[in-house]
Amino acid sequence: MATNITWHPSLKRTERNELRKQQGITLWLTGLSASGKSTVATALEQHLLHLGVAAYRLDGDNVRFGLNKDLGFSEKDRNENIRRISEVAKLFADSSTIAITSFISPYRADRDLARELHAQTTAGDETPLPFVEVYVDVPLEVAEQRDPKGLYKKARAGEIKDFTGISAPYEEPLNPEITIKTHENSVEECVAQITSWLTDKGYIK
Ligand code: PPS
Repeated sequence: MATNITWHPSLKRTERNELRKQQGITLWLTGLSASGKSTVATALEQHLLHLGVAAYRLDGDNVRFGLNKDLGFSEKDRNENIRRISEVAKLFADSSTIAITSFISPYRADRDLARELHAQTTAGDETPLPFVEVYVDVPLEVAEQRDPKGLYKKARAGEIKDFTGISAPYEEPLNPEITIKTHENSVEECVAQITSWLTDKGYIK
């Protein structure tokens, strides 16, 4: 970290949330490639926006076109990918927005770091940002069967190295707040499940 830098306090989170009439929160979707993360995240973002709730989706492929275009799929690069996204999601949540992230985020330690970063508070503002892990739980066989981008086929043929589930690990969440199963429920049902959870916990009205 650079030296000679100073933290400038802003509005307290509670004050900003009150003014914007909404609480910021990060919904962290994690799951295999082709598990349905992006599809559910997109539908959820639209649903929340239609309800008048500020929501913004950060997506794996999309972010790799810009902010993280220098990163590949080695363990080290994935760690950095998730660290940067965690910080960006935190900024969105801090602005009283529902940040919806859809990244494979295969390493438990990375997801734990994302949670930890949200829990960190600054001097004068002791309100942590809520972080909710949403496990998009689909068996590898189902994801591989779907293979919308033909990536599993290429990975099996050895044309893509370090492919999650085939030649790189996916560490399942141990205690996700929400688990959705896109092979058993429709996209609309998954969106409804997440929305009900948010309503029950008082994050949306
Ligand atoms: S990670 O693990 O969280 O850093 O990955 P993420 O940023 O979500 O990017 C996943 C998308 O990149 C494509 N892709 C790969 N995925 C996994 N392993 C390898 N080696 C790989 N190479 C390219 C793929 O389209 C992933 O998108 P989704 O939507 O998950 O299928």
